[in-house]
Amino acid sequence: MTNTPDSAQRTHNVVVIKGDGIGPELVDASLVVLDAVQQRTGGFKLAIDFRDGGAELYKRAGHNLAPETLEAIKQADATMKGPVGLPEVRFPDGTEAGVLGGVLRMGLDTYANDRPIRLLPGVNAPIKAEPGEIDYIIVRENTEGMYLARGKGIGTDDAVADTMLITRKGTERIVRHAFEIASARNGAPSDGVRRVTCVDKSNVLASMAFFRRVFDEIADQYPDIEREYLYSDAAAQALVMQPQHFDVLVMENFLGDMLSDLGGGTIGGVGLCPSGNIGDTHAYFEPIHGSAPSIAGQDKANPTSQILTLALMLDHLGERAAGDAIRSAVSRSLETGTVKLNELGQPVDGTHKAAEAIAAAVSAG
Ligand code: IPM
Ligand code: MN
Repeated sequence: MTNTPDSAQRTHNVVVIKGDGIGPELVDASLVVLDAVQQRTGGFKLAIDFRDGGAELYKRAGHNLAPETLEAIKQADATMKGPVGLPEVRFPDGTEAGVLGGVLRMGLDTYANDRPIRLLPGVNAPIKAEPGEIDYIIVRENTEGMYLARGKGIGTDDAVADTMLITRKGTERIVRHAFEIASARNGAPSDGVRRVTCVDKSNVLASMAFFRRVFDEIADQYPDIEREYLYSDAAAQALVMQPQHFDVLVMENFLGDMLSDLGGGTIGGVGLCPSGNIGDTHAYFEPIHGSAPSIAGQDKANPTSQILTLALMLDHLGERAAGDAIRSAVSRSLETGTVKLNELGQPVDGTHKAAEAIAAAVSAG
């Protein structure tokens, strides 16, 4: 932190990576909203160090993130990135070369991937519920599980294996993180009960039975929070049929990847979904979706995920009032229709106009 207690203006040093596909236009849209909130809420500013990362960089330079960029991210107070990756840019093993999950999540040890799923007003969600009735967080383990095998699968021409590994340390810290989040929330929308749901496949896999055992040990330390277990297949159904029941869900990496997109689908699409990658010393923030190259550069993409991502980063930097101002502006814009989404979840007046409308709502307070 560069905060000096007696300065009128808090400055936070952040790295911003615009990314691939729709990334640059989404990040630009979020910066329009940042300007508005810096003026409206006041008291702070972000000093932004723009860096490249992703598939376009890989095509140009042969790496998806320069070592000095990782260093800059480690030195920064936080990082925000747009989506990265292009389907045609691949490593020799067939996996995508632009994806930064491995290098950033492992390199920064950001072991928790917090993915809030909230139903907002004015969206065309397939689930019939009122805004506020769906409001939970998927806490996805981010550094082990199935994705420990990222790019490291072994095999022959006839078979390939990716290994899922779950450790005690990794499980203890992610479960503790989930219970700490639940402690700070107001419980599930349906009944106000603070609840952490352990999602696993412990009926089949020993690694997941181990995850559940460690979950129980940590849960014992939080007697005021309800614990619950769901197999991941049943969880997929319950997130569609009874989403109001959920408060915080914790799960292995691969499961969290799948179920967070499912959750996004229930509230009108992943174009509305932000996330935070959180560790003990570093954090970075990004939308949960990909770079949508088919609509890149056309001013079609929904910037809401990136704008809510900015809000999460501001919360993390201690600028909660600014984060709240952004979330409130997003909700009001969707509710009053100054931001209208079509059936694909894209803003009918375009990406940039949507950002301007949300910025205006921030300014109006
Ligand atoms: C996500 C993304 C990444 C992941 C991809 C792009 C590798 O899907 O953040 O959910 O699977 O972790
Ligand atoms: Mn994903």
